[in-house]
Amino acid sequence: MLKHLEQQLAEREAQSLRRHRRIAETACAPRQTVSAHDGLPRELLAFCSNDYLGLANHPLLIEALAEGAQRYGAGSGASHLISGHSRAHALLEDDLAEMLSSQGPEVRALTFCTGYMANMALLTALGDAQTTIYTDLLNHASLIDGARLAKAAVYTYPHNDLAGLDRRISACSTPRKLIVTDGVFSMDGDLARLPELLTLAERHDAWLVVDDAHGFGVLGEQGRGVLSHFGLRSERLICMGTLGKAAGVAGAFVAAHRTVIDWLVQSARPYIYTTASPPAVAHAVRASLQLIRRDEGEQRRRHLAALVAAFRRGVPEVLGDLLRDRGWQLAASQTAIQPLIVGRSEDALAMSAALESQGLWVPAIRPPTVPSGGARLRITFSAAHGVGDVERLLSALALAGKDMA
Ligand SMILES: Cc1ncc(COP(=O)(O)O)c(C=O)c1O
Repeated sequence: MLKHLEQQLAEREAQSLRRHRRIAETACAPRQTVSAHDGLPRELLAFCSNDYLGLANHPLLIEALAEGAQRYGAGSGASHLISGHSRAHALLEDDLAEMLSSQGPEVRALTFCTGYMANMALLTALGDAQTTIYTDLLNHASLIDGARLAKAAVYTYPHNDLAGLDRRISACSTPRKLIVTDGVFSMDGDLARLPELLTLAERHDAWLVVDDAHGFGVLGEQGRGVLSHFGLRSERLICMGTLGKAAGVAGAFVAAHRTVIDWLVQSARPYIYTTASPPAVAHAVRASLQLIRRDEGEQRRRHLAALVAAFRRGVPEVLGDLLRDRGWQLAASQTAIQPLIVGRSEDALAMSAALESQGLWVPAIRPPTVPSGGARLRITFSAAHGVGDVERLLSALALAGKDMA
C-alpha cells in the first residue's frame, strides 16, 4: 500500500498536481500571516477566501460566538435526533425559513454541519430508485458525490446546456426527476440559467435543486441569494446554502417545502448520523444573518461589486498580450469569483508563485478540481478588500505576466 501511494504521489508531483496546505497563523482577512512551504510566517494579501462580505473576522460575530458558547457550552453533545438539537439551531432554522420564504409556499429550513453533508443528504434522501438526477457537468464535488451515492439514475448534462437537458428529460421514464445545479459555479463564477431551468422543470414535472453556496449573502435582495436575484418562486425549488462563506461562520442549510424538510429529518443519513454542530455556531450565524440583511450587508455588497468591476476593467490593460497571444481568459463572471484561466497547470503554478513572490496569495486551481487543460488562478474578492488592494493585484499580475510572456 505505501509503495503504491508513494508512486501515485510522485506522479502527481511530476504533473504539477500535488497539493500543499498553508498554515494561516491569523484570522481570515485580506492581510493574513501565513506559513508557506519554507515554514517561515509571512504576511500576504489574500485573494482566495470565500469570505465574500468580510464577516469571518467581524467583531459582532466573534462576540456572538463567545456569547453562544457561554449560553450553550462548547459542543452539542449528540446528534439532532437524540439530544443535540438546541434552541439556537431551532431559532436559526426559523430565521432562515423567514429569510427564504419568497422562494415558495410553506418554506422551512434545516441546518447541517457543512454544505458537503447537506448536498449528500439531499441527493441521497430524494434520489431513490424511482428518480432520475440530472446534474450539470460543472457542479460541485459534493453534488457529484451525492448523486453517486443516491440510488437514482444519474445523467450529467453539459454545462448550462438546456437544450440537451430538455431532450434527455423528455425521454425520462422514472416517476420523479431532480435537476441539480450550482447557482453560482464555484470555479467559474458564472450563474446557472435558473429561470429557464425552472420553466423546464415545471414543463417536465421535475424538481430543481440549487446549490447557492456562492450566492447566499451576496446576491438578491438583502442577500437572500440567487433565487431572489432571479425573482424565482415555486414549490419545486429546493435551495442549499452554506454558512461558512459569505455568512462568515460555518455550516449549511436546506430550504424547501415543509414536506421535503420533514422527509430529510426522517431519512437523510448525513443529518441523522452525526453530532449536531455546536449551538454557539448557530447563535453566531443568527447574528451574521442580521448583518447580511441590514444596511451594513447592503453596503458591503455594493463595495464588493465595485471591486469586481474595477478588477475586470483593469485586467485587459495589464494582461492584454497574454489574453491575446496565449489564449488566457478572464472568465465571464460578474460575481466575486474571478478566475483567470491559463490552461496548463505549470502556468497556473508559475503565476501563483510569481504573485506570491510579490506578497500576494492567489491559489492555482488544477485538475481534477477543474477540467483538464483548464488550470486557473481562482481570484476571489471580499468586501474587506480596499480599492488599493485591487490596484496592487493588477500591478502584480502585470509583472508576473511579463515574466510568463
Ligand atoms: C458549490 C459548493 N457547494 C457546496 C460546498 C460545500 O460547502 P461546505 O464548505 O460548507 O462543506 C462548496 C464549497 O465548499 C461549494 O463551493
